[in-house]
Amino acid sequence: MTGKIIGTGSYLPELVWDNHKLTEWLDTNDEWIRERTGIGQRHISKDLGAGKMALEAAKKAMEDAGKAGLGAEDLDAIFVCTVTPDIMVPSIACEIQKMLGAVNAFAYDINAACSGFVFVYNMAVAYMETGLIKNALIIGSEQLSSMMDWNDRSSCILFGDGAGAVVVTACEQKGASVMHSDGASGEALQCVTGGKLSMDGQKVFRFALKRVPEVVEEILAKMEMEKEQVDLFLLHQANMRIIEAVIKRLGLEPEKVPSNIDRMGNTSSASLPILLDELNREGKLRTGMKLVMAGFGAGLTWGAGYITT
Ligand code: COA
Repeated sequence: MTGKIIGTGSYLPELVWDNHKLTEWLDTNDEWIRERTGIGQRHISKDLGAGKMALEAAKKAMEDAGKAGLGAEDLDAIFVCTVTPDIMVPSIACEIQKMLGAVNAFAYDINAACSGFVFVYNMAVAYMETGLIKNALIIGSEQLSSMMDWNDRSSCILFGDGAGAVVVTACEQKGASVMHSDGASGEALQCVTGGKLSMDGQKVFRFALKRVPEVVEEILAKMEMEKEQVDLFLLHQANMRIIEAVIKRLGLEPEKVPSNIDRMGNTSSASLPILLDELNREGKLRTGMKLVMAGFGAGLTWGAGYITT
């Protein structure tokens, strides 16, 4: 069993801060940020929190799924992953269930940081395998600007705000999931509730360079697939240097590894659904494609999922 994408949507705040904007108060420059991260700009949400952004993305994904004949009442589950919930109770997912009128869906939020979308997608497929659900709306939404120390030039330059949503339906094809956590290394990237994010950038960098290639190889082995059989590898958009290193280490064709980090920065759990929505709207997702997604982030957590279109 695997998941098949039948609708995508995203929401990006109108306000955009390019690297030059950050130099108004930070000792940094466009060249350093581009060279070390590949990031040129990020969206910043001043007015909408993770809940409202999630709703906007969800509405667009449902509109898209409507073309395939799926309506809100057909949803069996709604999952939101976020590390920046603007409401705790009820969950953002329950709010969205109410706003969409998805009366047959159960709904809840989870936090798996930047691995969130992959983890929650794998969880949805596991529910599909038990027969509990058929259709799920999966959303990643983050207002990371609210947890940045905007005077910490080694971390705030990386992150951005936004939301992405994907409607997936159960598909009777082979699938595979891989998920890992290393709580003992959690101090590398942390934030207490209401506080500001702190990060050991080099430690996280080394972790990503080791674990992302590993997890991609793990899922290919589980799928009994060669990398050449995969149409697209969708890697969490954290840093272009990490993406390029993974491409090199695994010998992937660069055109099979799309990226939008230059325009988005790292939007944590929203990065993969935003990327999927961009690809969909650009007509780059054709029926029957084989996609491997890989995520990594705070926890530490890392994982991969297989999804089709
Ligand atoms: N502008 C200019 N200089 C900066 C800077 C900035 N925004 N941030 C740090 N520097 C400086 C440092 O102070 C240091 O100066 P020094 O040599 O005088 O001490 C120098 O640049 C090198 O810093 P370093 O931390 O070694 O840089 P780096 O090459 O490791 O790049 C990151 C820093 C954060 C870009 C990089 O470590 C990284 O991307 N890590 C992964 C983080 C990540 O992806 N997190 C999310 C995971 S989901």
